[in-house]
Amino acid sequence: MPRYLQSSIDEVLNRSDLVDIASGYITLKRNGTDFVGLCPFHREKTPSFHISSDKQLFYCFGCNSGGNIIDFVGKIENLDFVDTIKFLAERAGITLEEEVYSPEIQARHNMRETILKMNKLAAKRYVANLAGDDAKGAREYASGRGLKRETISAFGIGYAKDSWSDLVDYLKENGFRNEDIIEAGLAVKNEKGHIYDKFRNRLMFPIIDVRGNVIAFSGRALGDSPAKYMNSPETPVFHKGSNIFALNLAKQYSATDGLILVEGNMDAVSLNAFGFPNAVAGLGTALTDQQAQLLKRYASVVYICYDNDEAGEKAANKAIETLSAAGINLKILSYSGAKDPDEYLKKKGAESFKKVISSALSPTEYKILNLRKKYNLVETSDKVEFINAAAEILAVNPNAVEREIYIKRISSETDISTDSITAQVNKIIYDKNRKSYKKAEREVQSTRTETRVQRGETPPTATYKAERLLLNIMFFNLSAYRIIRSELTQEEMTDKNHARLFEEIIKFREYNENSDAGMFLSSIPQDIKSCTAEILYKEYIGDATVAAKDLIDKIKKQNFKEKINRLAKEGKVDEINRLIMSNRKEQSN
Ligand code: UTP
Ligand code: MN
Repeated sequence: MPRYLQSSIDEVLNRSDLVDIASGYITLKRNGTDFVGLCPFHREKTPSFHISSDKQLFYCFGCNSGGNIIDFVGKIENLDFVDTIKFLAERAGITLEEEVYSPEIQARHNMRETILKMNKLAAKRYVANLAGDDAKGAREYASGRGLKRETISAFGIGYAKDSWSDLVDYLKENGFRNEDIIEAGLAVKNEKGHIYDKFRNRLMFPIIDVRGNVIAFSGRALGDSPAKYMNSPETPVFHKGSNIFALNLAKQYSATDGLILVEGNMDAVSLNAFGFPNAVAGLGTALTDQQAQLLKRYASVVYICYDNDEAGEKAANKAIETLSAAGINLKILSYSGAKDPDEYLKKKGAESFKKVISSALSPTEYKILNLRKKYNLVETSDKVEFINAAAEILAVNPNAVEREIYIKRISSETDISTDSITAQVNKIIYDKNRKSYKKAEREVQSTRTETRVQRGETPPTATYKAERLLLNIMFFNLSAYRIIRSELTQEEMTDKNHARLFEEIIKFREYNENSDAGMFLSSIPQDIKSCTAEILYKEYIGDATVAAKDLIDKIKKQNFKEKINRLAKEGKVDEINRLIMSNRKEQSN
């Protein structure tokens, strides 16, 4: 991989314009020095994608994606940094100058190139071996597992001979050195310093990255063996935790069809052979965050289809967590009558598997289904436990419609009223929200404290931060807006800017149903823009009406206290008494 001179990269950036580039993908409208359009990174009807042409930055108020021209091109074209620079250079008609390497960088770079060359050659050798006279057993094993010629060649499946030195000899003939062959993980050295082939008498699956480089191998024993698979070790070109098997083949289908994620290499191969070319496999470890990021980059949706046993269920639950955390749209395939997808296809065929896909479960559905298996719903105590556990699962699903559907199902199964189940779910949601809203409040305060202290200002009061959270909720949530509108007035805001923002939100709401922060920002006075951007930067995601009521209460109490203090300082005892009396009346109403 080339490294370009910084000056050369700078020239490319200086001669590329973000507005110009982005206009090739979306329609942009000028709005002062900004350009605004529909975000290309998420689905939306009202434009919230903003480009600042003088800053050469973009930001989407809808999906919060933002960055500079490199981020934009990288994201929209699915390119890494180097390829993005190349893309922009070509577009600007600039020839990139490569950096002159330091000897160490040069050496590392050369080592990677050497290993990739060697791997490619090894893959070819393995493929050739599979056609040889001494590969009869391997061919029989392959056909016994249902592998057809086309599948074998699509995956580049080959055979490592039952020999100590077939590959080492071959690579040496081609000019590679012992140390490098070991570094590539293709050979091992014993105590006597003798070097021998790592993979022997195995069916060989090359692991190929999305650029088409052979980065490692996975070798399947021909038949039962305690070491069923043997994989390449970590090498300068292979990190198990950041690669996915068969993504090189699946990536061209993944944007439209999503990816089917299975546990075994064999499952991915089989799916492919049965007409599901969007199948991929993890590399035998628990799915890592890096693998999740890789999947996210390519797939519109990921279907988890793990083995049908306890280990598979455990791994699937772990994968659900990891993939959800990465923000991936996720479904789970549930099937019966086979231990894994490979066996399922062979027993029931592709049409039947299509039905499995079309009845894919949402994570919530899947979790509840598994939970139910653990209980005998005729027993009262089991029923109670099941409903409590199911309510915990439902409470983390942010989709109210989905929640209601499952509540109805659980109700009819357990013969417990939907009202009782709903109450249980809402109680959990309420407790969680109170907690997370308290936490959000603390966080808002801590960041504010920092900036205000840096600016030499006094730290914000509890009311100050309560007002900020309130304004955020007021802007983003319509029902909270109505509650706040009917219970609080602009005058009750203790901070001058907050009072103005309060008023601006009301003005905006007169003409707008939406909560488009970008649009709102462009409608308000310049001097409260940055305060507003800070307040609206992240939408509060908990239960807004619960939080709104709490915040209104807090702000009112504070105002009350301050008024009393003021009157006390002025010695107006009678007025204080009147105020306290009327406040009591109000609270008892
Ligand atoms: P499986 O045992 O399910 O493998 O392990 P499989 O691919 O379905 O193989 P068959 O159908 O039994 O032939 C799942 C994955 O875990 C890794 C491999 O990547 C395998 O595909 N694994 C498994 C290993 O790395 N080493 C092993 O010994 C076993
Ligand atoms: Mn398996």
